[in-house]
Amino acid sequence: MSARGTGGFGKVAVLMGGRSAEREISLMSGNGVLKALRAKGVDAHAFDPAERDLFELRRDGFARCFIALHGRGGEDGTLQGALEVLGIPYTGSGVMGSAIGMDKWRTKMIWLANDLPTPRYRILAGGDDWQGVARDLGLPLIVKPANEGSTLGLSRVKAAGELPAAYELAATRFRDIALAEQFIDGPEYTASILGERVLPLIRIEAPQGNYDYQNKYFTDDTRYICPCGLPPEKEAELQAIVMAAFRLLGCRGWGRIDLMLDAGGKPWLLEVNTSPGMTGHSLVPMAARAVGISYEDLCVRILETAHVG
Ligand SMILES: Nc1ncnc2c1ncn2[C@@H]1O[C@H](COP(=O)(O)OP(=O)(O)O)[C@@H](O)[C@H]1O
Ligand SMILES: [Mg+2]
Repeated sequence: MSARGTGGFGKVAVLMGGRSAEREISLMSGNGVLKALRAKGVDAHAFDPAERDLFELRRDGFARCFIALHGRGGEDGTLQGALEVLGIPYTGSGVMGSAIGMDKWRTKMIWLANDLPTPRYRILAGGDDWQGVARDLGLPLIVKPANEGSTLGLSRVKAAGELPAAYELAATRFRDIALAEQFIDGPEYTASILGERVLPLIRIEAPQGNYDYQNKYFTDDTRYICPCGLPPEKEAELQAIVMAAFRLLGCRGWGRIDLMLDAGGKPWLLEVNTSPGMTGHSLVPMAARAVGISYEDLCVRILETAHVG
């Protein structure tokens, strides 16, 4: 707990709900955070931007915001911009880090320009030379939208002939830019960032690989393993890459980076989540527990990182 005590935060709004596709998960995250902060003596209140005008935050005397919104309108920099204008400190990344983190394409460009490893990719435009794309990236390959909706718009493509349909799904259905990406055949991890520290990695094991939306969200078969089983020096090396990758995007406060290792043990960064899930069984709370930080303490620690400007 901070030296000034949890009462020193003033009146805190836990922003939850919102209008994105991830509204339901956000309400679960937000209610968990709300309960935890209250248990810690913080004067915390729920605030749903889908139901109330953000300007009411100032009118109602809120001194800081805990952002428990996911996806568009909560994680993409727009809300962060509004809070900057209102002058109310908020948790997590600022306007630029949030906006870049929401965009997998621009995230990859920044990482690649700085020699950080992320799978090779092509932007699909429709009517592409599908055989050429398959030759260039190899098969299988992954097609996914660059922004929101990725989990649903993601396909694992096993033959060039499947590319047009995968493109349609990623680009047309989600009105997005479609990214074709080299397939990484190896274990998947997620790394949680809290302040200046990368918490222990979690290994994610889904039944037939993790690309499948069904496995990831609707079956209980996915296993989350922490400690992740890597040798300590390998984990430390990955944590250093993750911290550098997070900072390069202009991200701050807290967040999560998804990554994979290939058969040779080489790491590949997939994406950053600037406002990850915060339900009791979400991944950042799991990583925090592994270093003795309870869910309640984690919520207070995140609140402490709130900033403006
Ligand atoms: N290049 C890739 N190679 C292998 N699997 C991938 C690749 N890209 C994504 N995946 C799988 O798809 C999942 C979702 O992709 P990700 O880029 O993290 O988007 P999001 O989590 O926003 O849906 C990953 O957790 C991973 O299991
Ligand atoms: Mg992901």
